[in-house]
Amino acid sequence: MILTIIFILSLCVYILYRISTRKFDYWQKKNVNYVQPTPFLGNYSGYILLKENLLDVVYNLSKLFPNDPYVGAFFGTKPTLIVKDPEFIKLVLTKDFFYFTGKECFEYTHKEVITQGIIFTYGDRWKVIRQNVTPLFSSSKMRSMFRIIEHCSGVFENLLDEESLAPEVEMKSLMSRFTMDCIGGCVFGVDINAMQEPKDNIFTTMGCLFLETTTSRGIKNVVKAIWPEIFYGLGFKVFPTDIHKFFSKLLVRIFEARDYKPSERTDFVDLLLNLKKNRHIVGDRLQKIKTGDEGADSKLELEVNDDLLVAQCVSFFIAGFETSSNSLTFTLYELAKNPDVQKRAQKEVDEYIKKHNNKLDYDCVKELPFVEACIDEALRLYPLFGVISRQTGERYTFPTGLTLDKGDRVHIPVYHLHHDPEYFPEPELFKPERFYGEEKKNIRPFTYLPFGAGPRVCIGERFAKMQMLAGLVPILKRYTVRLAEGMPETINFEPKAIASQPNIGVRLNLLPRNN
Ligand code: HEM
Repeated sequence: MILTIIFILSLCVYILYRISTRKFDYWQKKNVNYVQPTPFLGNYSGYILLKENLLDVVYNLSKLFPNDPYVGAFFGTKPTLIVKDPEFIKLVLTKDFFYFTGKECFEYTHKEVITQGIIFTYGDRWKVIRQNVTPLFSSSKMRSMFRIIEHCSGVFENLLDEESLAPEVEMKSLMSRFTMDCIGGCVFGVDINAMQEPKDNIFTTMGCLFLETTTSRGIKNVVKAIWPEIFYGLGFKVFPTDIHKFFSKLLVRIFEARDYKPSERTDFVDLLLNLKKNRHIVGDRLQKIKTGDEGADSKLELEVNDDLLVAQCVSFFIAGFETSSNSLTFTLYELAKNPDVQKRAQKEVDEYIKKHNNKLDYDCVKELPFVEACIDEALRLYPLFGVISRQTGERYTFPTGLTLDKGDRVHIPVYHLHHDPEYFPEPELFKPERFYGEEKKNIRPFTYLPFGAGPRVCIGERFAKMQMLAGLVPILKRYTVRLAEGMPETINFEPKAIASQPNIGVRLNLLPRNN
């Protein structure tokens, strides 16, 4: 009996082993340099075992064949090409975008309501949604949203009066409260009030639920990313249904408050109301990008239902507050470590404030180039998405003759590019001058990708810049930031987080300026 059990178990292990390694000659057959993989874990063991953030793993793999345009790897059991050469990255993200419209496991995005949003979805559906929400980010819309951001910046300034009394301040949660209020006002037209009432704030709770870094969420993220067929086949979901329920109710409440009629604000809610009224949205199919075909079926009509609306809401809520608050935190951390740079940024803010009678306006984005360069440099050192992922929707051949099969993964090693001394000399130093004035022109295209590039580039880049400057000005004009006692000089990334975030609280002192 015991012998039979041992035999069956051994057989199972052997079968699993054979299944997990059956593609491990993939890159060898294609003549691509690759790293010897481990059964089940491939080359991503640190990420799969929740010990390292994805960007750290891909960074280390990217360094291995310095002269090759790409490296073959195995994301668990899945063949994955790490594309390092900027010319090849350009092909993937822009020129031959048609083949790479989907992100990792795109074919499963219909399995959860939230993954039907613009961030996760793919193909024609993504194209139609993107086309329909793009007008929301026009210059005139940005200008009108700035009034809300300016208001939040004022509330933030008052909040700083209280926070600065504490011996030290945890920056990440403080900045999240600011960006959450901005996004609530600009996108949903509601007062989230996270700055004044952080405790038991339902939006804060939803944000935490979405971004939680528990072990069980970490495991779910990993299994879903690598083996979506097993993950969804077993009926799992990544995001708790509470998130979806909350945003469904929120939308009804907002729609009722507006009597189901678009207002004069022409904000995101109005856009959703119009979509709801028309019951469908129309846009160009991706085929048009490939063939330029203007024929009748180059258009696609997408049915608008509640799930589609909720998915877009969640996309904008999450993309809008968490990314900017983390970037602000990293920027302040570097300013605290580099007092000379901080002084120069403060000087620019002082001049701006004097010129504009202590008032922040929309043009601050143009008039604070050095502060903006500090943000750009922080985004270089700490890109929020240190790996941009894609999956081929069709067979694709690179100019070198290498053919990727349908469904192959592509990882673009953003963190590696940003830390490559060939593109950014002395890469570990915080030098905002790289992004200031004429110097900026020396940056080689497709080596600096904090917002991505091409048709799927971050839609909220300008909004993010506006929001981040409005968060930095009140701090720099009245305070000097310093590392709190015991705060380390380097920060590691949280292994279980989807986007880069510090694995510890970023504690700074806010010292009132005496000039
Ligand atoms: C510092 C702040 C931000 C950073 C670093 C950032 C970065 C990015 C990156 C790297 C992507 C993916 C590009 C790709 O896969 O090729 C992205 C996509 C996106 N971002 Fe941002 N983002 C920021 C702020 C925002 C804000 C404030 C919003 C909205 C208000 C926003 C909305 C989006 C959306 C909707 C997408 C998906 C676009 C698509 O797939 O078509 N982001 N962002």
